[in-house]
Amino acid sequence: MAKIINGKKIAQEIIQELVVEVQGFRDIHNTIPGLAVVLVGEDPSSEVYVRNKIKRASEVGIHSTKHMLPIASSQVELIETIQSLNNNPAVHGILVQLPLPKHIDEKAVIEAIHPDKDVDGFHPINVGALVAGTATLKPCTPYGCMLLLKSIHPDLSGKLAVVVGRSNIVGKPMASMLLQADCSVITVHSRSHNVEQLCSQADIIVAAVGRPNMINSGWIKRGATVIDVGINVVNIDGKRKLVGDVDFNDIELWADAITPVPGGVGPMTIACLMKNTLTAARNQVSNK
Ligand code: GUN
Repeated sequence: MAKIINGKKIAQEIIQELVVEVQGFRDIHNTIPGLAVVLVGEDPSSEVYVRNKIKRASEVGIHSTKHMLPIASSQVELIETIQSLNNNPAVHGILVQLPLPKHIDEKAVIEAIHPDKDVDGFHPINVGALVAGTATLKPCTPYGCMLLLKSIHPDLSGKLAVVVGRSNIVGKPMASMLLQADCSVITVHSRSHNVEQLCSQADIIVAAVGRPNMINSGWIKRGATVIDVGINVVNIDGKRKLVGDVDFNDIELWADAITPVPGGVGPMTIACLMKNTLTAARNQVSNK
């Protein structure tokens, strides 16, 4: 039976450490770390994510503000909001919840965020730093996945990691971080050939495709560690249920360790956002 990697518990431990670290920062610098969360429109899952981020911020002693823009807002209006947050010294981190409405160019919005305040790590300067191995603000979901992997394998050196999916938010930064940790890394995606065969050689699989239960025991080497980033809503017997990209029940006997959905990667993303907000605040006070 595979070990279940308890992301909820590990995230809670990070949150508890942050409570102490944030208090220390507040005492030394007489400054409260500030996080601004920007949401355009009323997408129900984005609203849930934003609410959870704000709740966690208040738990760790980070001051957060919510900036809700109507769905019809123009790109110029959104960028003006970002610029005023860039110029606000009480705001150390800015997060624009994605996806954005279709009429807004995501790239232009990400580039409008000051790189020092980019707690998502999506600005090209931070992406470049990640690839170069010098990043301080790392994309929260892959950062959380790395912490989960390190809880099982403190030394990842030499392991063969296969990342399934190549999004800018998860797949690409995940591959960079695994490489930085001395893994051999393969990224597979919708155009890849022999995906199952590549996965079945992996010591570590990170699944981030958004397809319910796509990966089953036929894809997994015995003893592999499997991190499931997928959060898919499916209807089972008339009930809404969250499932990952990995068929958990099918691989449970094969894998060495796996993350559940929910309670695996999800809570780690928010914990890492809080870590990044404190890092951003530290970087900004030391640059003053
Ligand atoms: N939407 C889904 N994941 C993310 C994330 O990590 N950051 C932001 N800003 N939006 C998201």
